[in-house]
Amino acid sequence: MSYQINIRPSDLVFNVRSGETILQAALCAGISLPYGCRNGSCGTCKGKIIQGTVDFGQHNKETLTEKEKTAGMALFCCATPLSDLVIECHEVSAIKDIKIKKLPCRVHKLERVAPDVMIISLKLPANQRLQFLAGQYIDILLKDGKRRSFSLANSPHDDEFLHIHARNYPGGVFAKHVFTQMKVKDILRIEGPFGSFFLRDEPQDKSTIFVASGTGFAPIKSILEYAFYMENKCSIKKKMSLYWGVQTKADLYLAELANKWQQQHENFTFIPVLSNALPTDNWSGREGLVHEAVLQDYKSLATHQVYACGAPIMVKAAYDDFTSLRGLQKDNFFSDVFTPSLAEQKSWEPVGLKSDRLPSNL
Ligand code: FES
Repeated sequence: MSYQINIRPSDLVFNVRSGETILQAALCAGISLPYGCRNGSCGTCKGKIIQGTVDFGQHNKETLTEKEKTAGMALFCCATPLSDLVIECHEVSAIKDIKIKKLPCRVHKLERVAPDVMIISLKLPANQRLQFLAGQYIDILLKDGKRRSFSLANSPHDDEFLHIHARNYPGGVFAKHVFTQMKVKDILRIEGPFGSFFLRDEPQDKSTIFVASGTGFAPIKSILEYAFYMENKCSIKKKMSLYWGVQTKADLYLAELANKWQQQHENFTFIPVLSNALPTDNWSGREGLVHEAVLQDYKSLATHQVYACGAPIMVKAAYDDFTSLRGLQKDNFFSDVFTPSLAEQKSWEPVGLKSDRLPSNL
């Protein structure tokens, strides 16, 4: 049994299957309704039922009062339809629609996936979720008032844990902490989401090239996983390529995952590029600078969008060469730059992160 939901004022329509909440079904249909905790505590998802009936579900009685229910309000993260519905709420369509929050979180898992890369999984309190757009980042708030920025590597549809990729950095105090002292169950404070590095809606005929260096892979992973997820929902398959540049084979810390994406999605190609392959790498793949690999493969980028993330020198070279030599339109270049903080010397150091960012369009 499924019910049809019509959203006002946008007039978008989606279906809710038996047992699904209105929010779950909307997110599955690629419609971003606002949410926070997803368990009836915060009220962020509150909206109006204009027509039809719902089971209001388990929720905090102060968050949705009896009076509000009588007035037709519901919490869409808990409410399940009992009929077709017309509801009133505004979809999240841009960064400005997403609330920036400060939250505590717990280190759930630490995985050293390369000699200098740690994947940190963070768990938010049970009554909290962080809504974000794929590709955005969070700040970790440090005790001395400083902050360190990390891209979120998980897709928004898979938000039980927040994943960040931290790279070790010589002399970095925060890096040292992550690699030598941080342990499971440590409590951190975060703020976010931030940033405008997210996938734009674009015409089907525009193919997308992702260029990552090092841990610049993290936000691109988030974007790609979200894109694959949405492909399944709407059956639109755009051509996408990922060029991931690192020094040695060991730095391709999630190559297996990227290879798996390539096997599972015919519209996706993965091109790893090593700039400093070791003899022991037995590398027969692409070598050199990652943005140069793109230049070699494309005579024209006039009909492409490019998302570049990683070291400033790579991002700038990609922007300069793609726009001047390959005809990429300037407003089709989106970037996120990872720059270690110089002030870092005195404090915790960020690594695999970005503390200074260039605008998303350089
Ligand atoms: S009450 Fe928090 S998301 Fe629904």
